[in-house]
Amino acid sequence: MAQTINGKQVSQRVKDEVREQALKLHEQGITPGLAVVIVGDNPASRVYVNSKKKACSEVGIYSEEYALPQETTQEELLKLVEELNQKEDISGILVQLPLPAQIDEKTIINAINPNKDVDAFHPVNVGKIMIGDYDFLPCTPAGIMDLIAETGVEIEGKNCVVVGRSNIVGKPMAMLMLHKNATVTITHSKTRNLKEICQQADILIVAIGKANFITGEMVKEGAVVIDVGMNRLEDGKLCGDVEFASASQKAGFITPVPGGVGPMTIATLMRNTIKAAELNATKSK
Ligand code: GUN
Repeated sequence: MAQTINGKQVSQRVKDEVREQALKLHEQGITPGLAVVIVGDNPASRVYVNSKKKACSEVGIYSEEYALPQETTQEELLKLVEELNQKEDISGILVQLPLPAQIDEKTIINAINPNKDVDAFHPVNVGKIMIGDYDFLPCTPAGIMDLIAETGVEIEGKNCVVVGRSNIVGKPMAMLMLHKNATVTITHSKTRNLKEICQQADILIVAIGKANFITGEMVKEGAVVIDVGMNRLEDGKLCGDVEFASASQKAGFITPVPGGVGPMTIATLMRNTIKAAELNATKSK
C-alpha cells in the first residue's frame, strides 16, 4: 500500500518560507505584488484565481485582481498587460488560462514582460528552462519536484514517464526531470503501448486531463505516482487522472486529488512572485 504524499503540508512549508522572504523584502522597502487577470466566467478559473489571491494574503504578497468580461477584445487585454508591465507596484503578472476564443493566448503571453512572467510561459523563460538557466521555474512542474524530494526517492538514473505533453505541465516537467538526470519518456494520446511504457516507470507523472485514466495495472510496484489531474465528475466530485484505489495498491508513493499537486502549484507561484520582486528591484536600481 502506497504512502500518500501530503501536498498541503509541503506547500505550507514553502509558503512559510515565502512569508519570511516577503518580510525581508518589505524591510528593504520592496513590496512584492501580483496582478491576477481573469477573462470571462470559467468556473474552474474562478476557483484557481481565488486560491491564488488567498495565498498572496497568507504570505504577505500584495495582490490585485483584474476581472474582465467574456467579450473582452485582444486589444483591450494587450493594453492591460502593457499597463501592468509598467506598473511599479506589480512584480508579477498572471493571466489565467484558458482565454476566450477571440483572444490568442500566444500573443498575450508574448506581451508579458519576461521579468514579470511568474508562470514562466513566455518564450524567453521557456527557452531558459530548456537550457537549465532559469529565473522562474514553471509552477506545477516545480511543485512536483518538491513533492518527489519529499519521498526521499533519488531521481538520477531512474525511468521517468510523463503522460501528457502540454506546454504548461508535460514538456517543462520532462525538462526538469532531465536536468536531474532521469531517463525521461514523454507519452501522449498517440503513444502506442502506453500500458507497457507506464509499467517501466519508477516515477510516473500524469497530466492528461482524463478522469481515472491510469489504473493500478499500469503502475510499477513501488513507483512514485504523481497525479496532476483535476477532473470534475458528474456527481460534482473531484478526481485525478489516476485511479487512486487501484494505483495505491501498487505504488510506493502517490499524490491524492485534491491535496496533492494543486497546492504546490500555488506555493511555487508565491515563490516566483518573490523572485520577480527581487529581479525587478535590481533592474530598476
Ligand atoms: N490554467 C491552468 N493552469 C494554469 C497556470 O498554472 N497558470 C495560468 N496562468 N493559467 C492556468
